[in-house]
Amino acid sequence: MSKKPTKTEKKEVETTGHSWDGIEEYNNPLPRWWLWTLYATIVFAIGYVIAYPAIPLINGATPGLMGWSTRADVAAEIKAYDDANAEIEAQLASADLTEIASNPELNSFAVNAGSAVFQTWCIQCHGSGAAGNVGFPNLLDDDWLWGGNIEEIHYTITHGIRNEDDDDARFSEMPKFGADELLEKEEIEQVVNHVLSLSGQEFDADLATAGAVVFEDNCSSCHGEDGKGDRDQGAPNLTDAIWLYGGDKDTIRQTVTYARFGVMPTWASRLSESDIRAVATYVHQLGGGE
Ligand code: HEC
Ligand code: HEC
Repeated sequence: MSKKPTKTEKKEVETTGHSWDGIEEYNNPLPRWWLWTLYATIVFAIGYVIAYPAIPLINGATPGLMGWSTRADVAAEIKAYDDANAEIEAQLASADLTEIASNPELNSFAVNAGSAVFQTWCIQCHGSGAAGNVGFPNLLDDDWLWGGNIEEIHYTITHGIRNEDDDDARFSEMPKFGADELLEKEEIEQVVNHVLSLSGQEFDADLATAGAVVFEDNCSSCHGEDGKGDRDQGAPNLTDAIWLYGGDKDTIRQTVTYARFGVMPTWASRLSESDIRAVATYVHQLGGGE
């Protein structure tokens, strides 16, 4: 069998003069299409660098002749959105709070916008479904610390709770009965058993009887004689199965010994009035609104 000559052998291509172990490197020209593509990309790159932001500098980049920027695009889109909503936002900001719900157009705008505000600013603490967590109240039920009508909710959101940034923040402070030695260990055991009895849990009858007196003297001014709580002071109802911090014996003992101090930020400085009203409307219609 004779070996057929290959094309290259026939054409007598030049070599580069490089040779390794007898293998020589041909000096074939680059394919035309490849070369033209290369030139085209270079021309494109130069044009791009001139027209668009391209070369990174210390603060930003070369702007490009067209003055194009994604930031400006976003700003324009946001402005268009704001302009489109300006009228209804102004209406929301000035409407009577109690009348929002009865105006279908305003209510639907408020609930949608309020849901977006909630997902951005509130879920970190209250949870994406608003069901809360230990120390962060559930906003879906009708158990309210500070009040569940639209005006109370609006006030709570506007000023926050126990924060230092807003002079009008809701405020109250449960004493640290154990840590500050206001009650003896024994008295704490007694009152804990009284609280267990209030909420229908297992309790020691003797301790609870003595605890009722301790409660009357130390707790009823905030939690009420019957333990049903007081919204003026944000003092929780201790007779139901809903607990902010926990209703088991150890947690109640912990609460009475060291007290709690739940803090919610003020939103007046961060959200517009229409956003606050929107999120208040959203929370109000979640299920527990009064
Ligand atoms: C940093 C955590 C945090 C964030 C963020 C937060 N909250 Fe709160 N919120 C709390 C805490 C803590 C309480 C309960 C305070 C207390 O113990 O009285 C509370 C209470 C409330 C209450 C009162 C509930 C009641 O039973 O009276 C409402 C209403 C409320 N938050 C709405 C909101 C809304 C709306 C937002 C978003 C704009 C928000 N919160 C963001 C921590 C937060
Ligand atoms: C000055 C008012 C005040 C007094 C007095 C007071 N509390 Fe409280 N208590 C509160 C407030 C306000 C809270 C909620 C704290 C928070 O949200 O951070 C609270 C919370 C609690 C809780 C937690 C409830 C839950 O849902 O997890 C328990 C339990 C409790 N108090 C029991 C007592 C007992 C027992 C006494 C008396 C020995 C007492 N408190 C006295 C204001 C008071």
